[in-house]
Amino acid sequence: IAETTAWRPAAHFTARATWLNDPNGLVYHRGTYHLFFQNNPHGSSWGNISWGHATSTDLVNWTELPVAIPCTDEEMVFSGSAVVDHRNTAGFAADTETALVAVYTSATTAADGTGRQAQSLAYSVDDGATWSRYAGNPVLDIGSAEFRDPKVFWYGGDDGHWVMVVVEATEHRVVVYTSPDLKTWQRVSAFGPAHATGGVWECPDLFPLRVAGTQETRWVMIVSLNPGSFAGGSGTQYFVGDFDGVNFTPEHLTASDQLVDYDWLDYGRDYYAAVSFSDVPDGRRFMVGWASNWEYAGETPTSPWRSSMSLVREVDLVRSPDGRHRIRQRPVLPNDASRLDLPPGATAVASGGDSATDDGGAADDGGAAGVLVFSMRVDAGDSATFVLDGGADGEPADGEGLRITVDGNAGTISCDRTGAGDTGFHPAYASVDWAPLPPSDDDADVELRIVVDASVVEVYTGDGLVALTELVFPARPYRRLTRG
Ligand code: FRU
Repeated sequence: IAETTAWRPAAHFTARATWLNDPNGLVYHRGTYHLFFQNNPHGSSWGNISWGHATSTDLVNWTELPVAIPCTDEEMVFSGSAVVDHRNTAGFAADTETALVAVYTSATTAADGTGRQAQSLAYSVDDGATWSRYAGNPVLDIGSAEFRDPKVFWYGGDDGHWVMVVVEATEHRVVVYTSPDLKTWQRVSAFGPAHATGGVWECPDLFPLRVAGTQETRWVMIVSLNPGSFAGGSGTQYFVGDFDGVNFTPEHLTASDQLVDYDWLDYGRDYYAAVSFSDVPDGRRFMVGWASNWEYAGETPTSPWRSSMSLVREVDLVRSPDGRHRIRQRPVLPNDASRLDLPPGATAVASGGDSATDDGGAADDGGAAGVLVFSMRVDAGDSATFVLDGGADGEPADGEGLRITVDGNAGTISCDRTGAGDTGFHPAYASVDWAPLPPSDDDADVELRIVVDASVVEVYTGDGLVALTELVFPARPYRRLTRG
């Protein structure tokens, strides 16, 4: 398909020629960030699920490596995490070695068709280049078909312990297990159901996060939900609270049954299964999500690759005027991103977009127009619509584009992709998505940052307190922003 080349993003990771979904095993080790991912090494649709592997030193430029943990006749390798076993608690490392340990879900099907999901280990003693399955797998099996996506971290100092958060998906429950050695696990507590429960709970995470401008930290529980998210289909909610090594206690739960009253990491259609990197120095926290939605992920019109990750986002907490803590997200952008400020009433057009004209050539030429970052503001209380499209300077709009509207009266921001290029590949795709504008102290302007990278658009407002991620499949790469 000719368009596929122009739709391949530059800074959002895609597999070269295959399917991907969730990010897995995010870990920093010896100067390198490892991104594993749910991958079908043999095709462009979900299946043969294995852990693909990519690495980066800057969180923007990724190199795809051979599949790290392939599926076997016995098991598919579902989502999970990876840690550096600094204390060699599992005993996988010889004297001078350090083991990376992946904790994943073994998804198996018995002869009678019943499914089973249990937690297993694989390890690498060559800095992630090659992986071996632990002979004692699985290490945690409760006889369930809906028990998956372990996220593991070390809690405490030398006398600390491993903690695993893992979901009982259909129970809407995150279960906490602890272990001294990654091999034996004890159930110690559970969290949920809470807030959105209109679908299965998947891909949990739990980590401490700094409150900006203070010496304080809070713990954040991440829970992905499919379907039943705010924007429809799959999405990611979070809870802020405390964790004592055993119990997670949220500091704010509402009895409301309105999805808008819960905390969402992203209000767009395309941000799922987001989890954070382990072992990043200096207490920094980076997250990545899968930039798609289970409602139509299998039908998006790219080939042979299908789906990308979000940008990597650095997160922290902000204490809002209402006293609650909310996650702030700032994307890690490539140094060569084109940055364009949009003055009131004006148009900004990125130059150099001609290279984006697709020639139907090699599918791995690195993407369309590069990454564009548009910044603009809307006066407090005002309303404004911005149209992102593929037009050249001075050319009239042809009606195709993504429409982004700030509604000062309603206090909302919305993204309308019903007229954004190819919308016909799945009936659930075309949508108008919205978010409440974040609470602010005074009559502050609404600042917007729109990151455009071929088929992925990420909209940030309130300095990253609200994010919307949307896939688009334009006829011509989007590189012009016009105030409507
Ligand atoms: C989330 C998910 C996980 C599972 C994986 C399978 O998107 O459903 O719960 O481990 O994908 O690919």
